[in-house]
Amino acid sequence: MPDVIMIAIDGPAAAGKSTIAQLVAEQLEYLFFDTGVMYRAATYAALREEIQIEDEAQVTALAEEINIDVQSPSINDGRAYDVLLNGQDVTWDIRSDTIDQHVSQVSMYRGVRKAMTLKQREIGLRGGVVMVGRDIGTVVLPEADLKIFLDATVEERARRRYMERVGRGEVAELEDILSSMMARDEKDKNREYAPLIAHEDAITIDTTLMPINEVVEAILGLIA
Ligand code: CDP
Repeated sequence: MPDVIMIAIDGPAAAGKSTIAQLVAEQLEYLFFDTGVMYRAATYAALREEIQIEDEAQVTALAEEINIDVQSPSINDGRAYDVLLNGQDVTWDIRSDTIDQHVSQVSMYRGVRKAMTLKQREIGLRGGVVMVGRDIGTVVLPEADLKIFLDATVEERARRRYMERVGRGEVAELEDILSSMMARDEKDKNREYAPLIAHEDAITIDTTLMPINEVVEAILGLIA
């Protein structure tokens, strides 16, 4: 393998992608790039502008026009990075229940995906990156040297998301998270453009019963 490589990690919501990718990136001194934040920021922008999420043309026009940036964390409040939407810090705003409910609709739109994918690919091709999402191995960066598909049962994933929210001091209902996650999985897997699916070369890791450090070790082992 070359010295500087591209790693693609895909999988459904709360399969552990971000946590694991961040740790792998830290070990390798690579850039960690969570592409989900771009779809989340576009969804946040559309809701803030009071655009109907079903209005594909308007949502797409907005997604093409906004500027989304990810930078090193400016505040020590548990964030891994700052997410800036037209320069405004929206790091936590894009993690709300409302965004969870609408983001998969926004990410179904071809024009939205095109705008986001272009930027993602540009960053990915620089190499030395651990890129996380739904379609990184299949669409965004098919030339990635290592493709991982992280999975876990939906019950376990909902439990993790619930623990995350409670950990941040938010009010959360496990049942609501579970049903919203199932709806999102369904939309992500069945959409027409860039559906959530493992690339044929991807190595699938089921993290349901695996502690984080074991998953990280497994991935680092694959790289070595
Ligand atoms: O953190 P979580 O796994 O819940 O979601 P995320 O990775 O932030 O992604 C939020 C949503 O954005 C997903 O449910 C997908 O609909 C969409 N997404 C996508 O379509 N393609 C990507 N590369 C990343 C996210």
